[in-house]
Amino acid sequence: MTPDSVSPSCWWKAVQDHSREAGQLDMRELFHNDPKRFSRFSLEAAGVFLDFSKNRINQDTFKVLIEAARQQGLAGWIDRMFRGEKINLTENRRVLHTALRNLDGPPLMVDGKDILPEVRSKLAKIGRFVKAVHGGDWRGYTGKRVKDIVNIGIGGSDLGPRMVVDALHGHAVSSIKSHFVANVDGTDLSRVLSQLDPETSLFVIASKTFQTSETIINARSAKQWFLDRSGLGADVSKHFVAVSADSAEAQAFGIDQANLYETWDWVGGRYSLWSANGLSIALSIGMAGFEDLLKGARGMDEHFRTTPFEKNMPVILALIGIWNRNFLGAQTLATLPYDQRLQLFPAYLQQLDMESNGKTINRHGCSTSMQTGPIVWGSVGTNGQHAFYQLLHQGSDLVPVDFIVALQGDSELEIHHRVLVANCFAQAEALMRGKTTDEALVELTTSAKDGESMQDLARHKTFAGNRPSNTIMIDRLTSKSLGALIALYEHKVFVQGVMWDINSFDQWGVELGKQLVSGLLDEIEGESFPNRHDSSTNGLLARFKCRNGVR
Ligand code: F6P
Repeated sequence: MTPDSVSPSCWWKAVQDHSREAGQLDMRELFHNDPKRFSRFSLEAAGVFLDFSKNRINQDTFKVLIEAARQQGLAGWIDRMFRGEKINLTENRRVLHTALRNLDGPPLMVDGKDILPEVRSKLAKIGRFVKAVHGGDWRGYTGKRVKDIVNIGIGGSDLGPRMVVDALHGHAVSSIKSHFVANVDGTDLSRVLSQLDPETSLFVIASKTFQTSETIINARSAKQWFLDRSGLGADVSKHFVAVSADSAEAQAFGIDQANLYETWDWVGGRYSLWSANGLSIALSIGMAGFEDLLKGARGMDEHFRTTPFEKNMPVILALIGIWNRNFLGAQTLATLPYDQRLQLFPAYLQQLDMESNGKTINRHGCSTSMQTGPIVWGSVGTNGQHAFYQLLHQGSDLVPVDFIVALQGDSELEIHHRVLVANCFAQAEALMRGKTTDEALVELTTSAKDGESMQDLARHKTFAGNRPSNTIMIDRLTSKSLGALIALYEHKVFVQGVMWDINSFDQWGVELGKQLVSGLLDEIEGESFPNRHDSSTNGLLARFKCRNGVR
């Protein structure tokens, strides 16, 4: 503990005491001794099924963790979030992304005013625009219909919408092609622009603050590209719309008020795909699909808000994560969707989880005494099996896994889905069971090796097993089930933040880099060779400047 760190929260000691005996639990044995383990440690909510039985927990662990959540006052935090209290303390903001999914609920009073009518009227404005674009009433400067939509944004203004559009590609309106540009690396924008016709392209500039330099530079270059090809007289407003919480900044950039789709200061970037930041989603899959996404999330919200912790999926997923992170020492979490359409889900989840819980200062301004958010990573199965699963099975680190899979595939190639699912189940089972040296030896008896080399080889073929995983299942990948899945993880991340006593809704850690970049850019563009940095930074700058003509 550092000098200014607070002592562990009151729940910590009970879980730690329990972990001394339960830390060594063996899952093979647990399954063997309890035929009901699967039904005991699995549940369904809002169309999502969670099997958490393949974790190193027993019934006491479960009870101790649930009790820990109670002691930490989780119920109160959930209530405060849904009621719109300013729980994002360092930014003095409410956290109300759940209000955006609340299409049919009772009034939600904020500062004496029901905010839901305005939420609905902003959604209706999006609906009118989507209808106009899809119906052909919205046309470009030469009267042609829109064929390509380009979302320019980064972080939360990119990852969520990009992931959803990619996942629901099969539900997309056939006349529209969606593109996403995030990186300030010009090759990202150029690659997309090279596929476009300015007459039929619509750019959605998405930035909550409208100050994010990557997005502003990309938006300016896109506008210039448009003007260069369409001529100065062309009506830019037919090709550029914006999403922002700061209408003044968006207008300063040259966006008409009529083309501005406003988000809210009480919706964080990484929680914003439900807001106007979902405009690119609605333009891709249509308004009915977008509303289904909201409904799916709403189902999970209601489950999270009203269900006792023992049956509460986000709470359980979060507590299992705490167990693995804080008491079994796992440093990372692998998210492995067995669904090609969810190929961008791990990248989306990285921002959601790591930007929310990658913190070491707690709500009271003291250093945390516990490990907080894990490193989140992953990619689709089965590809990873032939790349990094070796380490998951036999590496020296414990890497808990979330498998995500749909019961029904949507590919016409039906056999593929059965093979995919078989692989998913096989991996979860292999991680849990492992293979003993004796089992490996039995397998080797069929080969003609002598005794000693068999023993040797058997050691290499041994899998310790006992490696934890959750399996998250949806029936089919639809707008609704995807909405529920995303909301599940949003709430999971929030619960973990509460347990670690950190504010999951700010992101001060991204600011330092932003501050330094403008000074460095001046130096890169200036005549002189700066000497004010450390020798490494000075040296790198000099090398770049020499290569680019400043001597
Ligand atoms: O730099 C981090 C961040 O602020 C994220 O939290 C956010 O999602 C992203 O940048 C983009 O911000 P904006 O939507 O304001 O451009």
